[in-house]
Amino acid sequence: MRAYVLLVASVAALGGLLFGYDTGVISGAILFITKDFGLALREQAFTISVVLIGCIAGSAVAGALADRIGRRWTLLVAGVVFFAGAIVSAFTPNEAILLCGRFVVGIGIGFSSVVAPLYISEVAPASVRGALVSLYQFAITVGILVAYLVDYALAAHGQWRWMLGLAVVPSLVLIGGMLGMPESPRYLFKMLFGDRARDELARIYLDPAARAQEEQSIRESLRTRSQGWEALREPAVRAALFIGISLAVLQQITGINTVIYYGPQIFQMAGVGSASASILEQSLVGTVNCVMTLVAIFFVDRLGRKPLLYAGLAGMFVALAALAAAFAQPHLSGSLGAIALGSMMLYVGCFAFSLGPIVWLLISEIFPLRARGLGMSISTLSNWVGNFLVSQFFLTMVERLGRSVTFGIYAALCIVTILFVRAFVPETKQELLESIRVRA
Ligand code: BGC
Repeated sequence: MRAYVLLVASVAALGGLLFGYDTGVISGAILFITKDFGLALREQAFTISVVLIGCIAGSAVAGALADRIGRRWTLLVAGVVFFAGAIVSAFTPNEAILLCGRFVVGIGIGFSSVVAPLYISEVAPASVRGALVSLYQFAITVGILVAYLVDYALAAHGQWRWMLGLAVVPSLVLIGGMLGMPESPRYLFKMLFGDRARDELARIYLDPAARAQEEQSIRESLRTRSQGWEALREPAVRAALFIGISLAVLQQITGINTVIYYGPQIFQMAGVGSASASILEQSLVGTVNCVMTLVAIFFVDRLGRKPLLYAGLAGMFVALAALAAAFAQPHLSGSLGAIALGSMMLYVGCFAFSLGPIVWLLISEIFPLRARGLGMSISTLSNWVGNFLVSQFFLTMVERLGRSVTFGIYAALCIVTILFVRAFVPETKQELLESIRVRA
């Protein structure tokens, strides 16, 4: 792979780092914000979830924006939005302005969650596309882990403004980096800037034959005239949309963010003593999440997307079923902590090399170029709605249905996801982006 392509993907992946950091950092910061602003429970929950509402809004418009002003400019705008949101949140005089700041941060996350994987997959040569989009997921997990560590380090003095404000550093790097990055050659062809598009392809592919093949397949895919919403009427594009939305929702309703957002609470349910012990265990979960994403980076282009999905989902099912069984035992108190920790590690580790990266990868691959921005936007929007619902209702589910039934439901949904992948998801390994077809 050319170092140039890796550089382009890494800069765009900073959007993922900010996604991870900004969703993860609130878990520690909220304790101190609650104290400083005297928040009631309801206000506290809203301070956490307002960012997800911003994500929904941001992802809804990101695709149209990326089709209009380009992938590169949309990522630049995302960087500026992240920066503004971090500054407003860090310097806020009161709760209302903090909510505005966090909403703005959410818009930045919404933008980058649509456009970063889209841009990376459009710049990547087919042979390493899986690894490069998985790099984006890796950046998300690094962002989450760094957020946990920053929270831990700054907790002693309750410095929540610093926790939220430190996001300015990666935002500035994203802005500076994207200024030096090229536009996606696919977008350039679509906008009829053929010469510039060819120059970009020459920087990605050294081999003239590979370059010519890529150019031809892009041109062919642009021959049909229908674009955007109009393209969504075609049966094949609708089928892609069905797969994109379903995968995005399944990624959330199999429960990942109960662990990412509520890990310490789950450890406490399992009887882990102190708050600091459970925060430490949460950092362990964050580390496993990060390290296991490397498995996807190494294997997704060799073994393919579907084998990794099957293996990961099977592991997630076992882990969740073990957790559900453990919580159902009345007399497990001694070993419950260890079982909970073990299952959560297994669960997160298996998510990290399967459903985590591969959902972002597949939704950036399955749409034809003329419907890609829009299709990716709608799928990502569904991902954020799923995220919002699960994280809003997790604690209520535990209260109403009990811990065992709650985790049992997530386990069952892993099986549903396996069946879904078997029935509908195409294998896209090594295929040129424009050759990928979804059966209507
Ligand atoms: C998901 C996020 C999740 C993260 C965990 C991402 O792929 O979309 O909702 O928090 O993975 O690593």
